[in-house]
Amino acid sequence: MSALIPRPTTEIAPGAVHVPQWLTLQQQRELVTACRGWATGPVPIRHTALPRGGVMSVQTVCVGWHWQPYRYTRTAGDVNGRQVAPFPEWLVELGRRALTAAYADASAAAAYTPDTALINFYDGQARMGMHQDKDERSPAPVVSLSIGDTCVFRVGNTETRTKPYTDVELASGDLFVFGGPSRYVFHGVPKVYEGTADPACGLASGRLNITMRVTGLTG
Ligand code: SIN
Ligand code: MN
Repeated sequence: MSALIPRPTTEIAPGAVHVPQWLTLQQQRELVTACRGWATGPVPIRHTALPRGGVMSVQTVCVGWHWQPYRYTRTAGDVNGRQVAPFPEWLVELGRRALTAAYADASAAAAYTPDTALINFYDGQARMGMHQDKDERSPAPVVSLSIGDTCVFRVGNTETRTKPYTDVELASGDLFVFGGPSRYVFHGVPKVYEGTADPACGLASGRLNITMRVTGLTG
């Protein structure tokens, strides 16, 4: 994953744009520090319980709104009943800059006001199965930031969890935005390449992914 070989910005599908090495190492470290803080509370990071039993292999902490399968709430009834940390203005600004980088559309970026972020930590054998982000009531794009170990990010289609799909490697500092015709694509993380991150990103091991979304909810 060497910076010696620059990877170009690529539109994987209409509205699905991969911007490699978008975050500097300094920004990555700052995000890791912020995520470490959120991971401690007020609603601590946890393996989310699934409705049919079992837990997700990733660990998740949320800001702005709390997500549990398959809804958003202000308070975390499935964890400790507390209200999650507020969505900070600096993260809204980062989301807007991300949209500008991906779409080069200044007015769309200015109108983008994410109000929730799901922060997922992958260690060991953690994976994420193919799914759609469809618990939001807004069709605004999802902004995804990756830090730490490189993964395979599978970008599918809007109809089925199976082929056709495109596998993209997301490395530390990469930005991925999915919106427009790709907003409801099935996607997942079938593989994380352990030990591939530069420790200067702030994570000694594992992979951190932050997805910002617009819930479309009020209150
Ligand atoms: C997600 O789909 O919520 C997370 C995707 C990722 O970890 O890259
Ligand atoms: Mn998702």
